[in-house]
Amino acid sequence: MKLAVVGTGYVGLVAAVGFCELGHEVVCVDNDGPKLQKIRDGVMPFYEEHLQQLVRRYAGSMLTFSNDLPSAAREAGVIVIAVGTPAGENGEADLSYVEAVSREIAGAITSYKVIVEKSTVPVYTSHWIRRSMLLNGAPAGLFDVVSNPEFLREGTAVVDFLYPDRIVIGGDSQRAVDLVCSIYRRLEDGSYHSEPTGITPPRQVQGGTRIIKTSAAGAELIKHASNAFLAMKISFINAVASICEAVGADVSEVASGIGSDSRIGSQFLRPGIGYGGSCFPKDLKAFRAVAREAGYDFRLLDEVASINDEQGGRFLRKVRRALWTLKDKKLAVLGISFKGGTDDIRESPAVPIVRALAREGCHLSIYDPAAMERGREEFAECHTISFSSSAYDSAKNADALVILTDWDEFATLDLKAIRETLKYHLIIDGRNLYDPAEVVASGLGYVSMGRPDFFPENHPVAQSPESKRNGMVAVRAV
Ligand code: UGA
Repeated sequence: MKLAVVGTGYVGLVAAVGFCELGHEVVCVDNDGPKLQKIRDGVMPFYEEHLQQLVRRYAGSMLTFSNDLPSAAREAGVIVIAVGTPAGENGEADLSYVEAVSREIAGAITSYKVIVEKSTVPVYTSHWIRRSMLLNGAPAGLFDVVSNPEFLREGTAVVDFLYPDRIVIGGDSQRAVDLVCSIYRRLEDGSYHSEPTGITPPRQVQGGTRIIKTSAAGAELIKHASNAFLAMKISFINAVASICEAVGADVSEVASGIGSDSRIGSQFLRPGIGYGGSCFPKDLKAFRAVAREAGYDFRLLDEVASINDEQGGRFLRKVRRALWTLKDKKLAVLGISFKGGTDDIRESPAVPIVRALAREGCHLSIYDPAAMERGREEFAECHTISFSSSAYDSAKNADALVILTDWDEFATLDLKAIRETLKYHLIIDGRNLYDPAEVVASGLGYVSMGRPDFFPENHPVAQSPESKRNGMVAVRAV
């Protein structure tokens, strides 16, 4: 099938190469000519595993690039809208790019097209796309609009696209829904999963992917409600982590106990410094606005957001408690992206923490495997922030090491080597990447989220009388 994918952000570009993997011809449309040229040359606008490899595999053959939306729309059978929907003033999504694209398509098409809405949008957007196209001269019989939300995560986007838990296709025209289903046939029947040159599955995959067909409004709501529910799980476990700290329990044990109830599920119960990124914070606000518009006051979502907003402050209190005053302390900071596997620092909870530490007079040496360039831009005006070439380099001559992002490589550090370079022999981990026993066995103290602080028996902190008096296990000598 011939597809036009409009927008070359995370969703658009990943979907475009994913559709090529499924055997379709795709033209990527974007009005940013220089960006398209870079992609064509194999330089990706963001870091994502497998993306560059697939763009190189298909560019020039099954994957082409264009800034001419009308002609791309005329030639494609299916037009996928994957443009940005940034937050507007009151939290509601700004749909002006979606509308602009719809208007342009309306004026261009001369034969039947299915318009697929893939951007994260509020309920009724497909209805508005349809209305806008009619108002802009597209004959009613010449197009249908289908909602096909994307559930990919940054960092594992390509794999998520090709091995999704489900595919949601919502529309009010059977013909259009069937056509969109057929695009995913190789995922539905599982034939892609045995493709020898295909991207390796993340887990044992059995059978094909389930396609869920709904109304357009249903599909739009599934996307917002899914993100809101996942954000709620994270805030829930972060709140439970605070209680664990107060009573001396270990949140990992509690999360594993809760998560092994199959009705709850173990994923998205990792406590930390809070969720970030370009989706959860924005989508939560947008869903709140959708609910308000629909006459429902979804206060639960406010609470989810406010628990999340408090996590950074809680973490900073931990750092102060561990190091006392912060002025002139030297800290090695691992990670500034909003999660591991991506160079994206949008709404990263690490960024305000770094700023606050710098404001309090700390000297920070930052290392991130992918987000260094973005970090340099973000903190260009902070003279007490420097950047290092590795985690070990960053830890050199630091007082303590602070972990802010859950990169895999931060979970497998040579802790003994790290210990040699840290003055206070201390790791403060905002992502709970380690088993405390492992850190302590390397001679380091370990402060993490929702768990007692642990120190080796011979650590100076474990010798102080306060620590011994501190009845529970806030400081436990191991
Ligand atoms: C999220 C959803 O997971 C995707 O399904 C969705 O398609 C995407 O938003 C979107 O709407 O485009 P993403 O923002 O890429 O994906 O990343 P997640 O893996 O969901 O992580 C979001 C944030 O939550 C990160 O800051 C992460 O560190 C944090 N998180 C995640 C936790 O703090 N604890 C967890 O247990 C899981």
